[in-house]
Amino acid sequence: MAKNASEWSKRPNQQVMPFVDSRIYSDEQIFEEEIEKIWRKVWTLTVHESELPKALDYRTLTIAREPVVIVRGPDSKVRAFLNVCPHRGNIIVRKPAGSLTSAEPSGNVNNMTCMFHGWQFDAYGNCADIPRCKAGYQDRLTKKDIGLRELKCEVAYGGFVWVSLSDEVEPLSSFIGGAFDIMKSEIDTEALEVFHYHKAFIDSNYKLWHDTNSEFYHDYMHYFNRATSMMQPGYFERRYTPYDNGHATVGSMEVKYEAYQGAASRVLSFPGMPKNGWKMVDLFPGATYNIRGSSLRVDTMTPIGPNKVLIEFRGLGLKRDTAEEREQRIRDHNTIWGPFGRNLHEDLLGITGQGVAMRPGTEARTILHGRLEEGTIHDEMGMRHFYEEWARRMGRQPNNPGSAMAAE
Ligand code: FES
Ligand SMILES: [Fe+2]
Repeated sequence: MAKNASEWSKRPNQQVMPFVDSRIYSDEQIFEEEIEKIWRKVWTLTVHESELPKALDYRTLTIAREPVVIVRGPDSKVRAFLNVCPHRGNIIVRKPAGSLTSAEPSGNVNNMTCMFHGWQFDAYGNCADIPRCKAGYQDRLTKKDIGLRELKCEVAYGGFVWVSLSDEVEPLSSFIGGAFDIMKSEIDTEALEVFHYHKAFIDSNYKLWHDTNSEFYHDYMHYFNRATSMMQPGYFERRYTPYDNGHATVGSMEVKYEAYQGAASRVLSFPGMPKNGWKMVDLFPGATYNIRGSSLRVDTMTPIGPNKVLIEFRGLGLKRDTAEEREQRIRDHNTIWGPFGRNLHEDLLGITGQGVAMRPGTEARTILHGRLEEGTIHDEMGMRHFYEEWARRMGRQPNNPGSAMAAE
């Protein structure tokens, strides 16, 4: 029956009905704390190595509001730096992508040049030139004293570039733990290559995208998923496996693509991937690897505000694909995951609606995470597991975020 205000705001018993408080998605202060306690501390999944194929190729992006440049050095190693000039704090590299083999105005080839006073830096982060250095600084400062701030950076798990703002971060392999156990052979047997990229700025909280990726109860929203999976054998046997640090995976099933008119069984796959299989790895705090037979989709998130997130979508195949194979993978990918596909935009509409209802300043509401189905596909343990890690890092309980937990 319909509720009055006090009935509507009554909280369930957490033991009986797990839930979170909507302020974890809408509160400005909680968002700021997440940037400090989570995003500045963890490994962030960024670009793929195939997007920096040649020495001196670079990409720029933002992690926890900090500008970052990722550049492949002359020695082929990929490095990450704070994209901030040590002189007066200007951003250095301004384009989203390019090659240092083209010089910036008032700079030299092979260097990153700050446009403000022309300080230059090489792809190792060394300062290569300070205009009129001796005249202004005498011997108080030379280019040897100056360098870019290098960030922890590793290329791993299918050739992705992982970066952390924290020098104290644990090794990437211990942060990930066993989370890629179900996808090792698929992503690490042969080199992968990005064949698709698009991005979306959504007025919603980044965790709502995580939640949508990590629960399958909403497959009712996707007619494509209902026809090709939900109504097929094996769907309700798919299982979650939780891993340390908030990560989780979802096991495979054989998708019957031909059950949707116009779609077809996927002839291509990845090494070790069952034909028409569908596996997922969900990573804390905001990245997902999702393989549907012939194409791997990787989502990365950049939280911008409590109610604004940048989501980037990459589609990948095998680097050695023939032109025909690549065309097939792109077709398969776009059928379901392209901007005009049969699935992904529906998820974006879902979290956009949540973003409307959970704008900053809206009342604290109950958000249910309470489906218990013994760890199978409509169980909501993917979300509950994520928020256990969130609570550990934040020192706040997601169902009562206003009160700090007792100091550990
Ligand atoms: S701020 Fe970069 S050279 Fe001055
Ligand atoms: Fe979905």
